[in-house]
Amino acid sequence: VQYNSAQRKNVRILLVGDPGVGKTSLILSLVSEEFPEDVPPKAEEITIPANVTPEQVPTNIVDYSNTEQTDEILNEEIVKAHVVCIVYSVEDEDSLDRITSHWLPLIRTAIGEDQQRKPVVLVGNKVDLIEYSTIDSVLTIMEDFPEVESCVECSAKTLHNISEMFYYAQKAVLHPTSPLYIMEEQD
Ligand code: GTP
Ligand code: MG
Repeated sequence: VQYNSAQRKNVRILLVGDPGVGKTSLILSLVSEEFPEDVPPKAEEITIPANVTPEQVPTNIVDYSNTEQTDEILNEEIVKAHVVCIVYSVEDEDSLDRITSHWLPLIRTAIGEDQQRKPVVLVGNKVDLIEYSTIDSVLTIMEDFPEVESCVECSAKTLHNISEMFYYAQKAVLHPTSPLYIMEEQD
């Protein structure tokens, strides 16, 4: 079912990704505008008021932690979210490989046969640790998975591209670039 994005009253952003990639740190860095040295496994759900978001829409940000949540709850959160940010760590190749081997297929499965549109943003965290870019690998993923709306490299530690990341997530919901997502069946 395609919705009229102009009428959307809020945006619900879910962060997923392998343990340790920095999901909780990203959320807390955004909220406090400084890097938290000690982070809990999971941040409380936060609501950002419309007037401080770039698109003027109230925005809920939801963390995920596999130590605190079951697969069933994760599935429910994926269904409830308007956009999913898959976070990987730019210095951890396994976390990048798991985008295609685990997270994108899991999101497709969670959405099920409704084939509702569920935009995805790929977020490479910890750019403060490296001097190369992972964007080439990520662009390849974007060719194969049309639900991926955008990608960004950032650092919760230096706050580089943190507000941009959440802006891209909002934008993926409010101004999607690709048409209604139809899952391709492959034999
Ligand atoms: P789980 O809750 O276990 O799934 O992990 P998470 O994805 O929430 O990661 P978390 O925010 O707990 O961060 C894991 C570790 O990475 C912590 O030691 C953070 O301090 C560190 N970390 C997070 N973001 C950055 C970053 O941008 N740069 C650097 N250098 N370290 C980071
Ligand atoms: Mg966490």
